[in-house]
Amino acid sequence: MKSFYDWQSNLQAKIYQINERLVQSIYTSQSDLYDMARYTIDSGGKRFRPLLTILVYSMISDKPYEDILDLAAGYELIHTASLIHDDIIDRSDMRRGRPTLNKRFGVENAIVVGDYLFAKAYELGSRYGPVVSKIMADGSSRLAEGQTLEFLNRGNLYLSENTYLEIIAGKTAHFFEACARGSSVAAGGSAEITDYVSLFAFNLGMAFQITDDILDFISTEDREGKPTFQDIRENVMTLPLIRSISKDGNSGKILDLLKNGGSVSDLKEVLLKDGSIEYSFDTASRYIKNAISYLRKTEKSPNIDTLMDLAMIVIDRISSLK
Ligand code: IPE
Ligand code: IPE
Ligand code: MG
Ligand code: MG
Repeated sequence: MKSFYDWQSNLQAKIYQINERLVQSIYTSQSDLYDMARYTIDSGGKRFRPLLTILVYSMISDKPYEDILDLAAGYELIHTASLIHDDIIDRSDMRRGRPTLNKRFGVENAIVVGDYLFAKAYELGSRYGPVVSKIMADGSSRLAEGQTLEFLNRGNLYLSENTYLEIIAGKTAHFFEACARGSSVAAGGSAEITDYVSLFAFNLGMAFQITDDILDFISTEDREGKPTFQDIRENVMTLPLIRSISKDGNSGKILDLLKNGGSVSDLKEVLLKDGSIEYSFDTASRYIKNAISYLRKTEKSPNIDTLMDLAMIVIDRISSLK
């Protein structure tokens, strides 16, 4: 199987163009604001959402993918803005291998840069007309809903798996869906194909967030460019913990460790041993299978293969660590 880095290196030219478009779109004569926005954009990131946007467009339309770069950049700006605000909420110090904006320039500046990137994103989206603009705005609204539901449930040791799934659907999967839906509409895709690529992207987003939540326990800061064990530190309940608690009830080791401030390495060891990490990985894999089945329903197109690879790569980020 292709690794994420192989897959991404094949798309280097597109990533380069995305980055160029991002830099152009954030220009302002207010040089401090520009420098801070550049700091974030230049720190990179996987560019998953704009790549998804471009690949869906190329799958459906014969027109050059350059036509969809503004929309792709718009989605990346929303994602980046949401990460800036997320790092304030989660009190994170590192993002994409660099100090977070709040750490480097202060919370006040970080809030404003986030707001600014949202504004620029909608400006880019508006170039594709009202329907696509609404899809983009809906994706952002869902993201805010998900973040709110997550915040409300911080420290809730008995958070249900269903509510967890609702949280990640809002904060991540519906936004992936919006990338695909907006791009399909812009490409002139039929209602049917638009629904299929949207369902593909939604399921991909679910798997993506579950994977990220597993990596928080089993990966390293060097590899991810952001701190690990951050969810536990901030009392955010994610699938491995939820699974472990619901399986063993009040007598479970995890609950004991959480209530009595156990060390993160003890927590990690229990989750690995009691099968909760494996269970979470299997759940992510099921979402990937669903994603692929929706993609298969669309007509054959040479670009489908790159999207298939994208689906496999999401869970491959874990396989190499297990
Ligand atoms: C981080 O997203 C937030 C999640 C939805 C897990 P990414 O993992 O796509 O972050 P970057 O853009 O590569 O930094
Ligand atoms: C990222 O969520 C924010 C959104 C999806 C809006 P997380 O808090 O789970 O992601 P990281 O771990 O900080 O990247
Ligand atoms: Mg968060
Ligand atoms: Mg976070």
